[in-house]
Amino acid sequence: NWTMENFIEMEMEKIRQTVGDKKVLCALSGGVDSSVVAVLIHKAIGNQLTCIFVDHGLLRKGEADSVMATFREKFQMNVIKVDAKDRFLSKLKGVTDPEKKRKIIGNEFIYVFDDEANKLSGIEFLAQGTLYTDIIESGTQTAQTIKSHHNVGGLPEDMKFQLIEPLNTLFKDEVRALGTSLGIPDEIVWRQPFPGPGLGIRVLGEVTEDKLEIVRESDFILREEIKKAGLDRDIWQYFTVLPDIRSVGVMGDARTYDYTIAIRAVTSIDGMTSDWARIPWEVLETISTRIVNEVKQVNRVVYDITSKPPATIEWE
Ligand code: XMP
Repeated sequence: NWTMENFIEMEMEKIRQTVGDKKVLCALSGGVDSSVVAVLIHKAIGNQLTCIFVDHGLLRKGEADSVMATFREKFQMNVIKVDAKDRFLSKLKGVTDPEKKRKIIGNEFIYVFDDEANKLSGIEFLAQGTLYTDIIESGTQTAQTIKSHHNVGGLPEDMKFQLIEPLNTLFKDEVRALGTSLGIPDEIVWRQPFPGPGLGIRVLGEVTEDKLEIVRESDFILREEIKKAGLDRDIWQYFTVLPDIRSVGVMGDARTYDYTIAIRAVTSIDGMTSDWARIPWEVLETISTRIVNEVKQVNRVVYDITSKPPATIEWE
C-alpha cells in the first residue's frame, strides 16, 4: 500500500541501484521541485551528490542566503554557489525587450551552469525535478514555452549525463507532501511560484542594479506584510513591479520626481488564469506607506486590479 514512507524508501533504493558509486549533479534553484529532488537524492547517496546554485543577481532579498543556510547548514549538502551577478547584468545592459531579456537570462544560466559542471570530474548523472504534469503537458506549445524558461534543467544537449527524475510520477501536491516528510522547511515547500528570469522581468525595460534594488526592497516589504496579515497561503503570487516611469510627488516642502511601484497579487489554481487578490485595504495601506517611506526613489504605489486574461500575471 502506498504511503509516503514507502515511496521514500523505494525511491532511495532505486536511486542507489541506478547510481551505484557514481556521482550525481543537480541544479538547485530554491524552488520546491529541485529542492525535493536534491534532498531525496542526498538522503539516498549522501555526498555522491553535488548541487550547483546559480545566483544570477535577480533573486529576491535574502533568497540566496536562505537557500545556502537550508541546504548547506541544515542538510549538510555539498552545494556550489556561483555568484554570477556581474555576468548576467553585463549581458542585460541596454536590453529592453522582455523576450530578449528572458532569452539572455536563460542562455546565460546554461553557460554558467555548464562552466561549473565542467570544473567537476566524474559526474555521470544529472538529477532533475521533472513532475508528472511536466511530462503530460510537454506536448503543448504553452507548456514547452514555459518550460524552456522554467527548467533550470534546460541544459546543453552535448552534456553527456544520464538523467534521473525521481519526481516524474508525482503531482505538485504530492511533491509538497514529500518535501515536508523529508524535513524541508515550509518556506520552501510552500514557496510561491517565482519565474526563472526572476526580478529581471519585474524591472520593466532595462535592468540596472539601482532598479533591482528598488524592486527587491519593495518586494520584501510586501512579502513581510502579506505574511503578517496571514494571507501568504491564500494568494497564489504576490510581488512588486517597477514600471519604467516617474511621476511627480511631494515630500515635506519639496517636489519629488520618482518611481512608481506596482503591486501585483493574484489568486489562481494553475497560473493559466487568475484574478486579482482582494487584499484588505488596511493591509494595502500599510504596504504602500512602508514602501514610500522605506524604499528610496519611490513616491507612488499602485495596485494592479486586472485579471488574467486579458492581462498576464507578470508585467513582462
Ligand atoms: P504569466 O505572466 O504568463 O505567468 O501570466 C504565468 C506563470 O508563469 C510564471 N512565469 C514564468 N516562469 N519563466 C518562468 O519560470 C518565465 O519566463 C516566466 N514568465 C512567467 C509567472 O510567474 C506565473 O506564475
